[in-house]
Amino acid sequence: MASHSVVLGVGGGIAAYKAAELARALMEHGVEVNTVMTGAAQEFVRPLTFAALTGRKVITEMFGTGSSDEVLASSVEHIRVAQENQLLVVAPATADLLARFAHGLANDFLTTLYLAFQGPVVLAPAMNTAMWNHPATQANIETLRRRGHHVIEPDEGLLACGTTGPGRLPEPQRIGYFVWRILAQRHDLDGETILITAGPTREPLDPVRFISNRSSGKMGYSLAEAAALRGARVILVSGPVQIPAPDGVELMQVQTASEMRAAVMSRLAESDIIIKTAAVADYHVANIPRQKVKKTAMRLSLELDPTPDILAEVGAELSRSGSGQLLIGFAAETENVVAEAKRKLQAKHCDMVVANNVSADGTGFESDENEVVLALRTGEIIPLPRASKRALADQILDEALKLRLALHQGR
Ligand code: C5P
Repeated sequence: MASHSVVLGVGGGIAAYKAAELARALMEHGVEVNTVMTGAAQEFVRPLTFAALTGRKVITEMFGTGSSDEVLASSVEHIRVAQENQLLVVAPATADLLARFAHGLANDFLTTLYLAFQGPVVLAPAMNTAMWNHPATQANIETLRRRGHHVIEPDEGLLACGTTGPGRLPEPQRIGYFVWRILAQRHDLDGETILITAGPTREPLDPVRFISNRSSGKMGYSLAEAAALRGARVILVSGPVQIPAPDGVELMQVQTASEMRAAVMSRLAESDIIIKTAAVADYHVANIPRQKVKKTAMRLSLELDPTPDILAEVGAELSRSGSGQLLIGFAAETENVVAEAKRKLQAKHCDMVVANNVSADGTGFESDENEVVLALRTGEIIPLPRASKRALADQILDEALKLRLALHQGR
């Protein structure tokens, strides 16, 4: 018997045929698939396709059409299906389904099942770009994200309606892999909201030039991926980077330190854990020239002002409010790594500082690996040996949870 079983909810969109490939991808991961189709989905694909692929009954309606016994049995089936499966994945999630989920309507089997379902929910929306961008759809997505559901952003590309833009259902294999990894993970971050900053900032010098740094965003993106798979709702505030956002996280793209500050402050209150991985520029030009600076034979000097220290500001605010939110900073150092980490821990009122030596070969900025030392508010120093940033991300989250428990018990 398969160790995991999921409900695959299929909505009525052109991409419904791709749900059949998703069913196969899930089964290749050893997952049992129970398909539920909306009425509209059956206009696009026949239930028989899913029944044949999964070897299981496909649910297509709320009430059986046969004897009164059958009607009675089917009237509680949504509860049974909700209890017997570990995860609900809806692909394609149409604008209509998102709206009904967001507002708690229960007018067919899938939406009724959704209300009865208590495990993780993965939504893979697909629709026309204008429908996706519509404020009503975006507001529903926001509601569903806040509820802790994983939303896999639609891909951009040519759509069936002939337009180009976001709206395509991502590759079924990718959705299947995401679902499988959620099933395979421990769920110690369920119900938590984690705010992560990542990447560099860009501080303009004039309309065409900027100052930045070599941060790749890999550490922050690894933390975002790890946290999302462990069940957290992740808000990723990111400067410009070359890597894609992990599936299931909410991406807020920013350019400058002051934009990053505004994004962080606007989402601070709802966050249980705040991790500041970003390599925020320390200086910027306060009055950016409106026109491009011309080349001359003269020496040019730049006058730079400090940027707001977001971490210090958040630290001061959290320590004032005593809210119990956990604050984690990062420190990239080239010498006296532990001493500097301890100093920053105090100065910025953090609960943990993750320090790394960026002068070492093959670790730190741009590389896939890192070697860090954690300095904790309890006075503990924990060295984490060299490993991939993705593996370190899980270890940092492990230590963060242990620390939070210790701090709460010590209160
Ligand atoms: O002081 P330093 O820049 O080394 O501190 C690094 C930590 O502070 C990182 O967590 C970084 O994201 C944060 N930081 C910040 N705002 C700044 C500079 C750094 O939040 N302006």
